[in-house]
Order: sequence, then structure tokens, then C-alpha cells
Amino acid sequence: MPRINIDGTSYEVAAGQNLLRACLSLGINLPYFCWHPAMGSVGACRQCAVKQFHGDDDQHGRIVMACMVEVADGARISIGDPETVKFRASVIEWLMTNHPHDCPVCEEGGECHLQDMTIMTGHIYRRYRFKKRTFRNQYLGPFITHEMNRCIACYRCVRFYREYAGGRDFDVFAAHNHVYFGRHEDGVLESEFSGNLAEVCPTGVFDDKPFAKVYERKWDLRGTPSVCVHCALGCNTTPNERYGTARRLLNRYNGEVNGYFLCDRGRFGYDFVNSPLRLPQPLLRMHSSGEPEPATKTDVLRHLTEFLPSQKAIGIGSPRASLEANFALRELVGAERFHLGLSASEQALLALIIDILQRGPARAASLKDTEQADAVLLLGEDVSNTAPRLALSLRQAVRQKSLETADRMKIPRWQDAAVRNVAQQERSPLFIATPDATRLDDVATCTFRRAPADLARLGFAVAHEIDAASPTVPDLPDDVRALAREIAKALKNAKRPLVVAGTGCSSAAVIQAATNVAWALCGAGRAAELSFAVPECNSLGLSLVGGGTLQDAFEAVEQGAAETVIVLENDLYRRAERTAVDRCLDRARHVVVIDHMLHETARKAEIVLPAGAFTETEGTLVSNEGRAQRFFQLLVPEGIQESWQWLRDLLHASGRDTGWTRLDDVTAACAKALPTLAAIPQAAPGAGFRIHGAKIRRETHRSSGRTAIHAAATVHEPKPPEDPDSPLSYTMEGYYGAMPSALVPYFWAPSWNSVRAVNKFQDEVGGPLRGGDPGIRLVEPAAGVAPCYFDGAPEAFAKRDDEWLIVPLHEVFGSEELSRFAPAVAERVPRPYLALNADDAASLHIAEGAMVTVTLAGEVSHLLLRVRPALPAGVAGMVAGLSGPIGNLLPAWGQLTIESGAVAGEVGHHE
Ligand code: SF4
Ligand code: SF4
Ligand code: FES
Repeated sequence: MPRINIDGTSYEVAAGQNLLRACLSLGINLPYFCWHPAMGSVGACRQCAVKQFHGDDDQHGRIVMACMVEVADGARISIGDPETVKFRASVIEWLMTNHPHDCPVCEEGGECHLQDMTIMTGHIYRRYRFKKRTFRNQYLGPFITHEMNRCIACYRCVRFYREYAGGRDFDVFAAHNHVYFGRHEDGVLESEFSGNLAEVCPTGVFDDKPFAKVYERKWDLRGTPSVCVHCALGCNTTPNERYGTARRLLNRYNGEVNGYFLCDRGRFGYDFVNSPLRLPQPLLRMHSSGEPEPATKTDVLRHLTEFLPSQKAIGIGSPRASLEANFALRELVGAERFHLGLSASEQALLALIIDILQRGPARAASLKDTEQADAVLLLGEDVSNTAPRLALSLRQAVRQKSLETADRMKIPRWQDAAVRNVAQQERSPLFIATPDATRLDDVATCTFRRAPADLARLGFAVAHEIDAASPTVPDLPDDVRALAREIAKALKNAKRPLVVAGTGCSSAAVIQAATNVAWALCGAGRAAELSFAVPECNSLGLSLVGGGTLQDAFEAVEQGAAETVIVLENDLYRRAERTAVDRCLDRARHVVVIDHMLHETARKAEIVLPAGAFTETEGTLVSNEGRAQRFFQLLVPEGIQESWQWLRDLLHASGRDTGWTRLDDVTAACAKALPTLAAIPQAAPGAGFRIHGAKIRRETHRSSGRTAIHAAATVHEPKPPEDPDSPLSYTMEGYYGAMPSALVPYFWAPSWNSVRAVNKFQDEVGGPLRGGDPGIRLVEPAAGVAPCYFDGAPEAFAKRDDEWLIVPLHEVFGSEELSRFAPAVAERVPRPYLALNADDAASLHIAEGAMVTVTLAGEVSHLLLRVRPALPAGVAGMVAGLSGPIGNLLPAWGQLTIESGAVAGEVGHHE
């Protein structure tokens, strides 16, 4: 390891990095703007200047940009050198000449990197006395505000949006002192990663628009460690609260998972917790024909005791409820009467995925692993819509080849502009085989559009090309076999090949084919990994708990084996045919729903128990990687309880004393009862954890505490709540210093008030959090097992004359259940549609915008037609989660009836 001397002190640092990163990793403050740990250096802002000396005799040295100079053994630099100090102060002074200095009204104020760096450089007096340059700001959609006058031209936004995230509708315009960062005209930012601009921009140009409507001063916000609930990737988040209302959500760095970035569904979808559809208090229906009426907790518990000690109760769990809540329901009804609350097909697919990941030899890839994959096959899954942050990682994976080129040319990987320059369009192989076009196609080596059966056949053929022992695919067309050979060759030539699939097109054959490819690669000595996108935040965890199918539950009610149905955080109409759900709810003598949203199932219940959403509860979720992660409560609203607490009360009402007094008791009981979950208590320290006898505080010591927004009524702050379930306090009283990474409620450090304070929590900037990244992996394959291939590629897809194979499509905004209730996200949800390719639409004499009726198994849906040129002939698409119960039946063959909009011989296109 090189040794460098900084202002007279010698340090050992990791080789290959730049001086700026080395200084920050050593905990030495050095101001910077344009450098970003995930995006590298471009040397644009000149803020990170240091003096570099050549040898011991050099008394003068020369000013260099620390982010552009690699550490070298024996290097001697100075940060405190007076000339350099003056240089940095002058840089910020000219960066600020046009800055409006509107900190008191700026939403970035109080957590602004520009503010921090201004203080750090010592620039305290403004000498510029002339007219400032001003810009017109743009409307950028519901997520992001724009105030261009605050720009310091660091170029981070455009580098993130275009180069890192692949967006095309954002750029830098004009030149010299008038550079403008925005869209070519007003309009909604298209990228599903646009919210990261609020964190990437070091000033207040781009900020969180929904937060602006419920703004609170940053230092008065309370934070908590949490996990996103809007897909299965388990991105770590920090929601913020003030006066009992969740106000916004920030990225919480986890080096193995989301790193520095979230998707917009996760960042803005949190606002569903403030929806008017939230259940504020228990509801009780006293007469079968009446409406549920508000009731007290005492009333509903008394009512429950009348029928609960019954042997005839069954439980229906949920993939969006915590492990602890699901386990508590399983304890209440008994393992054999616990059902997962998933459609039979989804349950089978998840069981298959768990079996694959447990059996091995390929292990599940983390998002960090994904970014380092040097050849990828994506089979059947539109990850940009089902697991957005995974798509962002895949977009980085295709850069591996350019990084290797840079290595050969001895260009450091962090020299971002130089690496992109030498690499030009050079990319690692990424093969995308999906039914429809994806937003990753622009970086794909090759795209292949077919029905799910044909995608699976391609996968089986690739596996066979890698290992002849894996099953062959009969009757494969020559062009598909040639493609399979090309993919096999690219994957075999890679050092870290990755196969990505998932439940998105509801095909076991696709999952099996993807697995055969990864296993064949492992058999050929490659360290191949698998990444499966699964639908919900605890889909994998629920499947590890195990239980019956929803169909089993319906049958139990139908046959009279079950009289009481307890539904946990689940709208059954999103899971099964309407008629089946109606019948079950009608025939059951008692229906109890525990949930936080008033959905259709809850409306039909006899008793509705209001549960905490993720901001009001604690628990453990298992991500698609098999990583168990703990999320913590942000606020304690009145009148509602956490689901596990309701279930504990029901256990007591049934005459069973669990001895559970806090969440840790349920976590421990769950870990003891279910061997696959034995490690979950290690996901985070328990409630008894203390540092120097103190809890960890959820508020920074900057909290002004007494700044009562309700001062007209009272100047007193309400008493903070107690939290017996976690080692976190609800006030600014408590510990804040080195702490377990799973418990960090916000990233803050002296002089670092912006999100960049995360630097102070990592041993090496951009590396794992100190003590290791949060979470514990539950699913690891047994070492050294030989691949045991899946047999049987499916028959090739054959289109039919009078029917269409309707496959599920997904929308980043709309397919997921909860984020749609956030007003900002609701603005981005498209109208439910049916997609056909242009020729198929023409064959029906309809054009874009026509109304089409789809009928499947008695379910009818009226949908807008959208022409999607990439869809294969004979295949139609419908948006899962957005088309009502009919979406639960997909994929399926169905007939289309034209309602309106028929256009003979004229068909529009929609991209
Ligand atoms: S808008 Fe922000 S991120 Fe973009 S160049 Fe200006 S200061 Fe930098
Ligand atoms: S990728 Fe998934 S887990 Fe991550 S922020 Fe988006 S919705 Fe949440
Ligand atoms: S951070 Fe080094 S020049 Fe901008």
C-alpha cells in the first residue's frame, strides 16, 4: 500500500485511488463538487485543489486537483498550504458570483453541500457587486423542482442523468457563463431515476417537489433507518418526519444494495402513508348488510373474543408485510392453516426460485455484484419496470469492458471523462430477451423479442451450448440457435457472468432456462451468479415462512373447514379472480382484515384492524437477494397498532399467552421456529442494544426542538413517544457516533450537513459502511454442488387465428400496489392499456387509442389500445396490477372485442 504524506503526517492508503478519495477516506476534510464516488472525476470545478511537492527538496510545489491525481508511494501534499487555501477560497468565490445567496428560502438550505463547502473554504465575504445572470426555470414534472440560478456548473446532474442513468431528455445547453442544465423544453423528466438529482446536485437547483409542499427545516426532521417497500430489491432508505407526518424519503447508503441511488417509485412512493385511504381506527360491521362503522379497540377485541378461540380460523399472509407479522398470524392460526396470500402461480414461481438459490451452484447476486458483471443475459424480465434499481446496476455492468480497456491503457477507472473517451461505445455483452422493448435496449448487444415460451427455449439452448449435458432444444430455428451460440460464447468468455430473470412474465420455464444457463456456466468453471426479480418487498421472506396457497384457503372456506378468515395486509382482489374472492368473503362467517389501506377486501370485512404502514412499524423484510433487513418506526400515530401487535392481541383474545412484549420476542420466536430464518435476529441489533448506556437518537443535535410551528396555539413541543421495540430514541437525546450500520438514522457529521456526510460512515469512501453493510443473507447455495439441470424446454409459441396470448407487462408507476396512492406518483400512472404490435392492430382494423374489451375467465376489462412495435405477432400485453383482477389471470389466451376507434388500414405507432 502506498504511503503518502499530508501536511507532515504520513498515512498508508489504498493503491489506485485519487488523492481526494484518499483524503476523505482518512477523515480529512477537503472541499469538492464535481467528483462523486459513484461517478468518478472530471476535474471540472477546481474546488479540490491541494499542493503537491516533488521530493523532499521541493519548497514550492504546484497546485493540482486532488480528484485528478493518483496516490503514489512517497507523495507529499499539503491541504493547509496558504496558497492552496487561498486558491480554494477564490474558486468558490467565482463559482458563487451568480449564485443568488437565497439560503433562507432555498429548500436545500441546511443540508447544502455548497453551504458546507463555502464554510469549509473560509469564503465569508462577497465582493462581487454586479448584476447576476438569471435564468428561466422549467416545469420538470411532479417529482423535481428547478431553480437554475443556484447552479455552480459542476456538471454532476447531466453526468448522472445521461451517462450514469441513460436518460436522454436532459442536457446541458449554451456555453460559457450561461450553461443551462435542464430539458430542451418544459416537460416531465422521463427517467425513473430523476429524483436522484435532488441528492446529486450539490446546490438547490434540483429539489424534492412533493417535500416542498410539506416543507420543514432540515435540522428539525427526524429520521429512521428503513427499507423501501415498493419492490423486492430492498433499497435502504431514510424517511423523515415532523409533527407526526412523514415528509420525505432519502437514499440510505448500503454498499451491497442501492449504493447512492434510488428509483423514483421508492423515493416518492412513500407518500402513500399520508393517503386519505389510510385506516385511522378500527372498523366493525355489526350486521351483515350494514357498512363497517368506526369502533374502539376495546369494542373490536371484545367482538373478536366471541368467535376467535375457534379451530376454524385460517390466516392469509402477505408479501408486503414483515416476517414478524406473517409469523404472528401463522402462530395464531397454526402452520397448517396459514396461507401465503399469493396466487398459485406466483407461489409456485417463488418456491422454484428459492429452491434454485438454495440448491446452487449459482448464488444470488447483490446489486453491487450486478454492477461488476462483465457479461449479462437478461431473460424474460423487464427490470426497468419491475426492479428499477437493478436496471440501473445493469447499465453500469455494461461499462466493465470500457473499464478493462482503461486498465490496459493505464487510465485509472475513476478518470471518468478519459475512460468514456477511450471506450467510446465499447460495452460488455448484455443480451436482452423479453416480450417487449425495454429501457435498457439502448445498451444491449442484442435484443430478442418473443413470447415467453420462445424466450425459455432460447435460454435452454444457450445452456446447451455451454454444456452439452444440459437438455437440448428440438426444432430451434437456425437464427435462434446462432444467437444462442453467440450468447453462450460471450458468457463463457466472461469472468463474472450474470443471468437475470424473474417472475415478470409468470413463466417457470423462463426461470428454469435462466437457471440452466447459470448452472452450465458454473459447471464450466465460471463464477456465474443469478439475479431474480420477484414482485414485492417480502415475497422471498413470505415464501421462506411457507404455507398453503390462496386456492387452498378458498377451498377451506368453501368446504366449511374454515369459518373465520384473517387477512393480513393483503387485498385479495389483486391476487385472484373476483368471483373466487367474492365467494370466499361471502361464505366465510367472519372476515377480519389487518391492514393500513382501505382496499376492496377491507371494505368487505366484518372487522378491520388499522395497522401501521412501514413508517409506523418495525420488522424484517427479505430482499430478492435473500438479504434480511430491518426497518424501523419513524412515527407513532394514534389509534393504530403494528400488525404483529394486533395479532398478539388476537392470540391473547384466543386465550394464548405468547409472552411477546416487543418485536424482538417475535423475531426470536420466528427464527427459532423456522430454520431458514434462523439468522434474522442478526439483521440489526435488538431493542436492548445501547452505546455507553444510551439509545441512538433519531434527531440530530441540530434539532432546534422548540421551534413550534403551532406557536399560535402553543409554544410547547408535544412529548416524544417511547419506542420499546428498538434501540433508537425519538429525540435528540441519545448517542450519535460510531454505530452499527443497520441503525444509522441519518448521515450527518460536523461540517457535513448534506447527504455527502455518508463519507464519514465508510472506512473507504464508496466502500462498505463501517462494520459492514446492513442486512444478513439468508440464502446461500451449498458449496461445490454439481449442476442438476431442469429438463424440458417448452413447445415453441404458435400464434392463433382468433385468440391472443396476453402476457403481463409492467409499468414502473402503476403496477406496484402502494406507490400509486402517493399523489406525485399517481400523476405518472398511465391509463390501463392493451398493447399489440402494429401489424396485429392493423389486422383488427384498429389504431392507437381504440377501445378494446378483453374477456378472460368471465373477467372483463375495457382498455385503451397502445401500439408497441416490438411485441411479437400473436402476443398482446396488459399491465399487471393496473388492469384489475383480470391481471391475475395472465398469461392467458384471450379474445379481443373492439369497442371503438376502428380505423380501416391506418394504424398509429406508439413508442
Ligand atoms: S444543476 Fe446542480 S448538479 Fe447540475 S451543474 Fe448545476 S450545480 Fe451542478
Ligand atoms: S428499486 Fe425497488 S426497492 Fe429500490 S427504491 Fe426503487 S422501488 Fe424501492
Ligand atoms: S472535485 Fe476535483 S475538480 Fe471538482
